[in-house]
Amino acid sequence: MNATQEQLKLKFEQALVAAFGADYAGVDPILVSASNPKFGDYQANVALSLSKKLGKQPRAIAAAIVDKLDVSEICESPEIAGPGFINLKLKKEYLEAQLQAIQIDPRLGIPATKTPQREIVDFSSPNIAKEMHVGHLRSTIIGDSIARILEFQGHDVLRLNHVGDWGTQFGMLITYLREVYPEALTTANALDIGDLVTFYRQAKLRFDADEAFQETARQEVVRLQAGAEDTLHAWKLLCEQSRREFQIIYDLLNVQIIERGESFYNPLLPSVVQDLDESGLLVENQGAKCVFLEGFTNREGEPLPLIVQKSDGGYNYATTDLASLRYRIQQDEAKRIIYVTDAGQANHFTQFFQVASKAGWIPDDVELVHVPFGLVLGEDGKKFKTRSGDTVRLRDLLDEAIARSRVDLEKRLQEEQREETLEFINEVAEIVGISAVKYADLSQNRTSNYIFSYDKMLDLKGNTAPYMLYAYARIQGISRKGGINFDELKDNAKVVLEHETELALAKYLLQIDEVISTVEQDLLPNRLCEYLYELSKKFNQFYDRNQGVQVLNAEEPQRTSRLVLCDLTARTLKLGLSLLGIQVLERM
Ligand code: ARG
Repeated sequence: MNATQEQLKLKFEQALVAAFGADYAGVDPILVSASNPKFGDYQANVALSLSKKLGKQPRAIAAAIVDKLDVSEICESPEIAGPGFINLKLKKEYLEAQLQAIQIDPRLGIPATKTPQREIVDFSSPNIAKEMHVGHLRSTIIGDSIARILEFQGHDVLRLNHVGDWGTQFGMLITYLREVYPEALTTANALDIGDLVTFYRQAKLRFDADEAFQETARQEVVRLQAGAEDTLHAWKLLCEQSRREFQIIYDLLNVQIIERGESFYNPLLPSVVQDLDESGLLVENQGAKCVFLEGFTNREGEPLPLIVQKSDGGYNYATTDLASLRYRIQQDEAKRIIYVTDAGQANHFTQFFQVASKAGWIPDDVELVHVPFGLVLGEDGKKFKTRSGDTVRLRDLLDEAIARSRVDLEKRLQEEQREETLEFINEVAEIVGISAVKYADLSQNRTSNYIFSYDKMLDLKGNTAPYMLYAYARIQGISRKGGINFDELKDNAKVVLEHETELALAKYLLQIDEVISTVEQDLLPNRLCEYLYELSKKFNQFYDRNQGVQVLNAEEPQRTSRLVLCDLTARTLKLGLSLLGIQVLERM
């Protein structure tokens, strides 16, 4: 609900009480945006919903409400239409005052949450010794945007990287490296991640083929868990190596995140199993310790337990998740925990959430949310791969986006006969390239799969980052052309709205608060993308009608007023894009 709707709701509450008595104080006026601007801006459907209870015709009820309804500061006189809708049209003066108010507000009129709380966003979370893949890219981009939105809303956000830094992969890898490249286990920087991934693949092949190797690898895991010094040192070096590589990606994406990997929770694992046992949930099944829950079955329809300790004593991914969940509730005091992973892990999350809840570990005021996302597909609609069929390295993918955006930029500069410095070209190419990748991802409903296409995401037309960035830069161009400092408009700017397109833009600008609070709840950043895209279209309609002259060449007070609309559009775009992790450019 936006600020205007909230005010209207209050007015309706008063009218309902005045018309029908105190019992009607909490009744929802059922305010919706009007389906057709012809009927106004909002429509209240409360009269229809009360008809039965009051035993009256909805139109009569509507008339009784309207009789007591004082919205004269906000709307023109309400009109009753059809079976009993109450149509409301916002007053021009009201819109003008609202715009003037948000113009001096750095938050553009978006209220912070009234109930700030600690929220954890668990995202990115790649695995050590394996390469970050496009799934982790999605998690990183979506998780970062969600965290930014929650932070902006005033929540106390903890961004956690639940790195896969523990487990059987290290047994294999260390055993293999001892054979083929022991220096890697004792000397820092002896490997780069490319090597590490290759070694990991070879180690896995050996592991699958050679039983003696398997046994040594298992012992190596036991030694690691027991804290054997040489193994622990080797493990640390391998983690550092991966970490350096991950950091390059985070820097490129401008993402902040705190690493708290699986190993962090290692000391807490035995108590998870013990406490589950004490609460009577644990069942031994072929030597493994499991929790069986109703409704979880495998493909054959057999019950599918959550295994928390394997028969060899080792712990699982789920055990760590249970331990981390308790830690996050007890130590971090999180009230909402958000996990951003591919949809393929949906079952894992439902299952371990349920186990934790059965065990009584989730207080009533704590909410657990899995935020799933779909796959990234290649242009052939199949799994995203390089031409040679390998998985795509994230670094290559981002570099390619930057390189392509640079080619586009150079071509455009040539066409426009512009000379720009190398510094300018580098900056614009990087920001546009990275933004294109982010925006392409965020503008999709995250639950669906999407096709990764450089051409599409870099297109200057359409719902893309370059289009949005261009819209912003274009507005800054107006201020440059007119020698105007938008910041100086603020003090005594008066807004006067005359034309259809001005009114449409003004109303739309006032809706961003609603969009942001929706995304805060449903965690779907694509709604914000849609809003920003629609906003820039509304701006273009306004600006094209004026053909770029009647803003700067208009008479006062229209000139200042229209410049305020330009400034507000630019600031809304900048704010919205920043919540998507996208930096704007003053020129491009
Ligand atoms: N490392 C996991 C993966 O690559 C993601 C971890 C997600 N977070 C969690 N708490 N399970 O699939």
